[in-house]
Amino acid sequence: MNNIILVGFMGTGKSVVGKKLATKLNRDFMELDDMIELREKMPIKDIFEKKGELYFRLVEKEVVKEAARRKDIVISAGGGAIIDVENFKNLKNSGTIICLKASPETILKRTIGLKTRPLLNVQDPKKKIEELLKKREPYYNKADFSINTDNLSIGSIVLKIMSLL
Ligand code: S3P
Repeated sequence: MNNIILVGFMGTGKSVVGKKLATKLNRDFMELDDMIELREKMPIKDIFEKKGELYFRLVEKEVVKEAARRKDIVISAGGGAIIDVENFKNLKNSGTIICLKASPETILKRTIGLKTRPLLNVQDPKKKIEELLKKREPYYNKADFSINTDNLSIGSIVLKIMSLL
C-alpha cells in the first residue's frame, strides 16, 4: 500500500518524473517496462516483434502484480497497463494513481524518431496517437489525479505531485 503509481500515455514523462519523485521522497522506484525487459532479456520492441503484443501484455500483468505487492514505492507503468481491468485493480489497491497527460502534438514531439515504442512505429504516428488517446481516455480518467504536462518542467511536475499527496 501507499505506493505512488504514475500512468498515462507514452511520452508524458512517467519515467523521468517517477525517478526524480522517488529520489525526492527517498523511495524505491520501479519502472515496469524495465522489469519486463529484464525478465524477457530483450528490449520491448523485440518482445513485440518476436512474441507479439498479447505475450507482452501477459508479462506486463505479472510485473504489475509484483510491483503492486511492494509498499511505499514509486511505480511507473507503461502506457497500456491500466487498460486491463485486473491491472487497474491491483495498482489501485496498492496506492494513489496519478495520470500524466499531454496533447497529441506534445506526445508526437517527445516520441518522434524513437524506435523504442513499437505501437508508434507506424506510417502516421500522429493519427495513431490520436486514436489510442481517444480509446484510452476513459481508463486514464479513472486515476485519482491528473496533471497536464504540456507546459511543465520535470521539476514542477514532481512538485505538483508532492502537493497532491
Ligand atoms: C505501451 C507503452 C510503453 C510500453 C509498450 C506499450 C502502450 O511504455 O509499455 O511499448 O501500450 O502505451 P511507455 O508508456 O513507458 O512508453
